[in-house]
Amino acid sequence: MIQTGIGKVCHSDKDAIIHVDCVTHRYPDGTQGIHNMCFSVYPREIVTLCGPNGAGKSTLIEHLNGLMMPDVGGVRVFGEDMCKDNLSTIRKLVGLVFQDADSQLFSPTVLDDVMFGPLNLGLPLEEAKKRAEHALDVVGIKGVNKIPHNLSGGEKRLVAIAGVIAMEPKILAVDEPTGDLDPSNAKKMERLLTSLRDDHGMSVVIALHDMNMAARIADRVCIVKQGGIIAEGAPEDILYNDALLTSAGLELPTVARLFKDLGLEEEGVELPLTIEQLLNVIELKRP
Ligand SMILES: Nc1ncnc2c1ncn2[C@@H]1O[C@H](COP(=O)(O)OP(=O)(O)OP(=O)(O)O)[C@@H](O)[C@H]1O
Ligand SMILES: [Mg+2]
Repeated sequence: MIQTGIGKVCHSDKDAIIHVDCVTHRYPDGTQGIHNMCFSVYPREIVTLCGPNGAGKSTLIEHLNGLMMPDVGGVRVFGEDMCKDNLSTIRKLVGLVFQDADSQLFSPTVLDDVMFGPLNLGLPLEEAKKRAEHALDVVGIKGVNKIPHNLSGGEKRLVAIAGVIAMEPKILAVDEPTGDLDPSNAKKMERLLTSLRDDHGMSVVIALHDMNMAARIADRVCIVKQGGIIAEGAPEDILYNDALLTSAGLELPTVARLFKDLGLEEEGVELPLTIEQLLNVIELKRP
């Protein structure tokens, strides 16, 4: 595996708040979802899992709160080995939003749906309602009495995220969070995920194919291929590696592609990850 400890990313395994230790999971039909997968989550970081369709991102994500259990290997969450007996504790710490938000919503109204988790934690009705209203406010959903089934795909995703935020987990794992969002809601989602790290001190794990989003938002990038992580490191190290990304069926983010194609690579020039950073580099180089 390519592993880069330079740049912003330098962690020791003992700091990991989740450690997926050489996990293999096979589905009932015999398909291998992940194989010998090792992955860690560190405090207060956004880590992206980038990989092509079928790479194993969702399978890994569903192991983070015990929705799936490993066939081989183990998962540690805040130092506890995950097992059937501590799943309820682990699910308070790790919230998960599925790729298919539809499957996460089942209550008669949006508010009921978001209150379900806090009520399940044993909170009194008023406290659960307060948390749910706050979480819906954070994601910007107004129609709290609507039937979840009647919401648009993007709205369902936002309600599903609110449902997890209302549980106040330490770690949020989201699967393809912007897949069905329009540009304005996608931007809002990026701001929301960033603020969960910055304002709430959470760690956020995001599975996605959108390399531009990974460039804008990630503190650390993991490349997933054929059920394993083949490379991980700081975004500037991973997202400028043309050969690596091509071998994983991915592409350079647009900013990295432009930076390379414009011949801006030069000793000492920091690799830009956002359009603003790229424009700054171009401005500095202007004669
Ligand atoms: N319920 C299932 N039964 C059998 N095989 C499955 C099942 N779910 C996933 N798989 C297989 O496991 C492998 C990993 O799938 P997974 O859904 O984790 O990939 P992914 O990286 O999330 O892909 P995508 O980007 O398409 O969401 C694939 O080969 C897939 O076909
Ligand atoms: Mg998936």
